[in-house]
Amino acid sequence: MVDMTDGEPLGVAVVGAGYWGPNLVRNFRNARDWALVAVVDLDLARAQEVIGGGTEVLATTDLDEVLAREDVDAVAIATPARTHRVLVERALRAGKHVLVEKPLADDVESGRSMVEAARANGLVLMADHTYCYTPVVQKIRELVEDGSLGEILFVDSVRINLGLVQPDVDVFWDLAPHDLSILDFVLPGGLRPTGVAAQGSDPLGAGKACVGYLTLPLEGGAMAHVHVNWLSPTKIRQMVIGGSRRTLVWDDLNPQQRLSVFDRGVDLVQQSVDIADRAAATISYRLGDTWAPALPEYEALSRMVGEFAGAIRGERAPVTDGAAGLRVLSVLEAAQTSLRARGALVEVATETPSLELIR
Ligand SMILES: NC(=O)c1ccc[n+]([C@@H]2O[C@H](COP(=O)([O-])OP(=O)(O)OC[C@H]3O[C@@H](n4cnc5c(N)ncnc54)[C@H](O)[C@@H]3O)[C@@H](O)[C@H]2O)c1
Repeated sequence: MVDMTDGEPLGVAVVGAGYWGPNLVRNFRNARDWALVAVVDLDLARAQEVIGGGTEVLATTDLDEVLAREDVDAVAIATPARTHRVLVERALRAGKHVLVEKPLADDVESGRSMVEAARANGLVLMADHTYCYTPVVQKIRELVEDGSLGEILFVDSVRINLGLVQPDVDVFWDLAPHDLSILDFVLPGGLRPTGVAAQGSDPLGAGKACVGYLTLPLEGGAMAHVHVNWLSPTKIRQMVIGGSRRTLVWDDLNPQQRLSVFDRGVDLVQQSVDIADRAAATISYRLGDTWAPALPEYEALSRMVGEFAGAIRGERAPVTDGAAGLRVLSVLEAAQTSLRARGALVEVATETPSLELIR
């Protein structure tokens, strides 16, 4: 293992060389902080193909062989969610820091066990909530944090397109981790809804929800809404965050103007408590400019692997640590309960530590 403090690259192995794993491989390879040591997949040909020729990087199906290596400091796991717990805990037991793809696991109990195991071993456990490392989401967080939006009043997120109907998960587990991890990253205090109500439909008879709506009341009377959908021929990736001072609109499919800030809003100047007197309440509309913040250009995953190295070297929690992954899981699991209860509002487990403690 390398001396964490001397700037020498850290050794990493990527497990899972399917659709997403190759993106991790490319970014670890391009990062000065990292030396790619091995790629592991049950399908050897996939691992070999991702690595390519003319390199000393090991392609193997044998995770134990990789975990036994001294030159592997960390493991990045890009296998299906149902395999995460076993693989993550094996790597932690071998003393390796772990990056795991979203969602952290396929249930809260597994996620909790993984977070505990990392804590007990004094190792970094980080979730790849990729969107949190994009220039646009970093900017949104900055605008929320510096008070530009004022108090958050509502969030409306739409993530719909013609999607692959996944064999093992419904549309909530496939797409909503993105919206939920973004909310966890940008909302003051993280993702802490006072409840979750989920409604889903399966109009084609695929055996799972293909269209889903999540309603998340937030503390202070605000409301977040997430719409995920595999059946929409039009692709929309849009999030509106309405604040008491300004509102922003993020349209991820509009590279010319991904983010717009509206200097407009509604003020309730006077509100009577007496119902009969309600007409006396005065609503005033503020009309101001719309502007587009300048956004730097870089690949989110390059930031993400940098954050992972920084956390290991600095012995600090990454901004998307296991606890963040667990908060997202808690909402997904509560949404499942709500679906079974025909959309009833259900509570979300809140035993995870607050962001203030770990940032
Ligand atoms: N961050 C993102 O934006 C993003 C995007 C897509 C997928 N993902 C996540 O990445 C993970 C993988 O998704 P995918 O679409 O690449 O899946 P995939 O099915 O395309 O690939 C998974 C690979 O893992 C291998 N594998 C399975 N079990 C294994 C094991 N026990 N040991 C070694 N290899 C094993 C399979 O052979 C396969 O090659 C999921 O958690 C998914 O949610 C994240």
